Amino acid sequence: AGSIGTICLSAGGDDAVERAVACLRAGGLVGLPTETVYGLAADATNGEAVARIFEAKGRPRFNPLICHVSDLDMAARLAVMDDIARGLAARFWPGPLTIVLPQAEATPVHPLTTGGLATVALRQPKGIAGDIIARLGRPLAAPSANPSGRVSATSAGQVMRGLGGRIELILDAGPSELGLESTIVKPKRDRLVLLRAGLVGRDALRDATGLAVVGPDAGSGIEAPGQLRSHYAPHGAVRLDVEHVELGEYLIAFGDASSIAGAAQAAAIVNLSPSGDLREAAANLFAALARFDRPEIGRIAVAPIPREGLGEAINDRLCRAAAPRA
Ligand code: TXA
Ligand code: MG
Repeated sequence: AGSIGTICLSAGGDDAVERAVACLRAGGLVGLPTETVYGLAADATNGEAVARIFEAKGRPRFNPLICHVSDLDMAARLAVMDDIARGLAARFWPGPLTIVLPQAEATPVHPLTTGGLATVALRQPKGIAGDIIARLGRPLAAPSANPSGRVSATSAGQVMRGLGGRIELILDAGPSELGLESTIVKPKRDRLVLLRAGLVGRDALRDATGLAVVGPDAGSGIEAPGQLRSHYAPHGAVRLDVEHVELGEYLIAFGDASSIAGAAQAAAIVNLSPSGDLREAAANLFAALARFDRPEIGRIAVAPIPREGLGEAINDRLCRAAAPRA
């Protein structure tokens, strides 16, 4: 990807919200202050914009991202907000608490944002981030604004040093108020599962809901998505890097599908990107896997996909789909 001239603006400036909204609406990336850490934000409903987040961070896999909302109404359009979720939101939003909930049926959130999961992680941030989301009228996907494997950015300068040249805009609101990522909690019927510790502690969560708070490992099963190699496997067997399609296989193609030997005998073809564009392929990946995840589809063949840039995360996801079942 070519280098972009990254603009840094004061978050206090007159047109800061306007500029950020215009950039996000056009599918751009913005380094945004929140009260926890700086976020690397994109429109959570735009798959190619979200693909750019992974590209800019150099993340080798598509882990699910937090969706930032402006208010309870937006949250309720994205997720099933039961009484527990509403209680948590009323007590802690806007603030450093992320709540993992079942997705609403008609959610506009793109599957790349949620890593293809049935749940979505929601948080209402304080300050200018909330104003931008409200004005945009759409949720923002935003991991911490640092390259993968580096410490979370807590100043605009840090965002510029880590991601300058890869994102369009940074809003500078000085050092982050809290400097630590949000607490992540997943409500279960009779308890709260703490997925990531943060400034909202166990006692506050228990007091707000009257529910027990259990650790990520205390009888909750595997919670971290992507931990289980075969977590994402479709019904059928998946064959990667195919050079020859066998009769009756369902084909996931990339680039010119007709260049793959035997493509004409595929039962059906989904092309992740006919032009061979990795961002487009990333945005289409989860829908392609979901489309071929049917009991009657026994064999799925996947064309070779380059391993550079976003291709690493795409191949990581496909390897999980192809892993032997646990
Ligand atoms: O304070 C914060 O939370 C910052 C600011 C920018 O809001 N954001 C942040 O995002 O730390 P990130 O992407 O670095 O962390 C997101 C975490 C990941 O560990 C991911 O696994 C988890 O949230 N997560 C997201 N969606 C999930 C889901 N549906 N189920 C379980 N975990 C989820
Ligand atoms: Mg992070």
